[in-house]
Amino acid sequence: MDKERGNTQKKRNSSLYLPEVATLINKREMTPDDSFFEFQLKNRSLGHLPGQFAEISVPGIGEAPISISSPPSKSRKFEMVIRRVGSVTGALHALKVGDSAGIRGPFGAAFPMAALKGRNLLFISGGIGLVPARSAILYALEHRQDYKDIIILFGCREPAQRLFTDALAQWQKREDIIFHESVDRTNGAPWHGNVGVITTLLPKLGKVNPVDTYAIVVGPPVMYKYVIMGLHDMDFSDDHIILSLERRMKCGVGKCGHCQMNDKYVCRDGPVFNYDRIKHLQEAI
Ligand SMILES: Cc1cc2nc3c(=O)[nH]c(=O)nc-3n(C[C@H](O)[C@H](O)[C@H](O)COP(=O)(O)OP(=O)(O)OC[C@H]3O[C@@H](n4cnc5c(N)ncnc54)[C@H](O)[C@@H]3O)c2cc1C
Ligand code: FES
Repeated sequence: MDKERGNTQKKRNSSLYLPEVATLINKREMTPDDSFFEFQLKNRSLGHLPGQFAEISVPGIGEAPISISSPPSKSRKFEMVIRRVGSVTGALHALKVGDSAGIRGPFGAAFPMAALKGRNLLFISGGIGLVPARSAILYALEHRQDYKDIIILFGCREPAQRLFTDALAQWQKREDIIFHESVDRTNGAPWHGNVGVITTLLPKLGKVNPVDTYAIVVGPPVMYKYVIMGLHDMDFSDDHIILSLERRMKCGVGKCGHCQMNDKYVCRDGPVFNYDRIKHLQEAI
């Protein structure tokens, strides 16, 4: 019995550290810097929850944590959006359909979608923050009857930076959700929507019941401070604000300390946190 338990433990530990081969089955450019990737693992489904990430590697180059953007229902083939910023993300952008990459994970704390059943959801996503948020948004839309109002706010720097434009157009048309979008500036592109930072969308919502609503906020670090101020002005309490944080990571499993914030490891205790659990950490926001 003990031997059996030991073997299972050994197997689980090795899957934490050893990448499994995933095949790139679909890829397309979304913006000049961001590409959409669809991968398939050879022997299993990824088995992720909305908000989790995986460590993705290119042999000889390195490894990077990347959020899973598809909902759990689409786990056999899972989706990511990767921004080209350096060596690993550059090597991933160079992959072609049929090529392989290494995958460890899924890792990290997920958005508490089950605990939020019966509540209103207010998604606030800035830029590439839409990538992890999309997994939770699609999950909520697949389980539409489980939630009350679903409000989605998306903002990015300029129209050319918009991600998942097909989904944005669909959300705009749906009558069972509220969707608002903004760009910081038009940069000369045709644009008939709101212009301004994402917080300029909050007054458009009118009265939102802060007791029955949870805000799920994902975006660049600069966004959090102002969105939290906006939510406080709407009488949201800190425990009704859920954030996903990004930190430099190595192991992804709480061993190396690269992502440490005081007593918390962002890879293991996060990246999804209730704001009331991290607001005392100076470096969190
Ligand atoms: C939980 C989590 C989820 C993520 N999800 C996504 C995602 O869905 N899509 C995506 O494109 N990226 C995502 N990232 C960021 C991604 O992991 C980094 O961009 C990547 O590791 C950079 O690796 P690189 O080798 O290409 O860049 P490097 O060559 O290592 O660095 C290039 C530049 O990027 C900076 N940089 C590298 N990593 C980070 C970081 N974590 N935070 C801020 N600056 C950094 C470096 O300082 C340097 O200036 C996520 C990060 C975390 C922690
Ligand atoms: S990345 Fe190693 S502890 Fe978080």
